Amino acid sequence: MHINKTVIITGASSGMGKAIAQALVEAGANVVINARSKEKLEAFIAANQAYADQIRTVVGDISQPSTGKALQQTALEAFGAIDVLINNAGTFVPKPFLEVTEDELDGYYGTTVKGSFMTAQAVIPAMQNQGGGSIINIGSMWVENPIEVTPAAASQVAKGAMHTLTRHLAIEFAKDNIRVNTIAPAVIDTPLYDQLMDKEKLQQLAGLHPLRKLGQLEDIIAWVLHLIGTGGNFVTGQTLFVDGGITAGSHA
Ligand SMILES: NC(=O)c1ccc[n+]([C@@H]2O[C@H](COP(=O)([O-])OP(=O)(O)OC[C@H]3O[C@@H](n4cnc5c(N)ncnc54)[C@H](OP(=O)(O)O)[C@@H]3O)[C@@H](O)[C@H]2O)c1
Repeated sequence: MHINKTVIITGASSGMGKAIAQALVEAGANVVINARSKEKLEAFIAANQAYADQIRTVVGDISQPSTGKALQQTALEAFGAIDVLINNAGTFVPKPFLEVTEDELDGYYGTTVKGSFMTAQAVIPAMQNQGGGSIINIGSMWVENPIEVTPAAASQVAKGAMHTLTRHLAIEFAKDNIRVNTIAPAVIDTPLYDQLMDKEKLQQLAGLHPLRKLGQLEDIIAWVLHLIGTGGNFVTGQTLFVDGGITAGSHA
């Protein structure tokens, strides 16, 4: 499949964002990738010299509105279009509610709520001018289905706001042919878990899912490609749970 689009991806130095960027450049898309780590973004370019013309980077914290504006300017200057925004930057550190600090709550709010909100605000005028676009918010299964062994109120109130943002933008900008959807993963095997647990403990989380396995990067990439391709033409305002069956019901 050849993808002739320009795609902005936040949080693309690791995990899902990086894997989505890799799949997109290999399919022919232009990508503007963001993260706070300059070194990791440079490493992505170094590993993709064959696609260097298709890649631009914006280093910065996505909670700062200037980062969203820089992503918009870079995409328009380099590629003359913004077809897709993927609000992916974020993290997930399970922590009991009574132990969450104000700084941690502010961190989730800044990256997830303010970051996705202000970045969408920066790019939507360009999408309106060009007659349409697609926004994908990477939300979370935990918004709908809290799990006792992974207490996550702080990160999930922020992800919940992102799910709400999806529906509001979908309705407000449907008339402009801008589609807005959420992909809500359960446990996907990414470097996010490296700081939290060893591989053996991560594998045990497979049992949380009725399908009794962890999600893989390919499972997310497939939905992204579907949503930004013709498969997504008549889909907006939806939350697509890529969750091994968790939100369908309990298997325990
Ligand atoms: N993996 C899962 O099981 C899972 C489940 C549900 C939802 N999610 C969500 O999926 C998204 C991707 O997660 P992942 O598993 O791929 O994690 P990851 O491997 O840790 O990657 C997270 C990315 O976000 C970037 N980032 C974090 N805060 C940022 C900020 N303030 N500004 C700019 N970039 C920022 C990180 O880069 P820098 O550190 O260089 O900035 C990194 O590139 C996250 O939003 C996460 O909450 C993941």
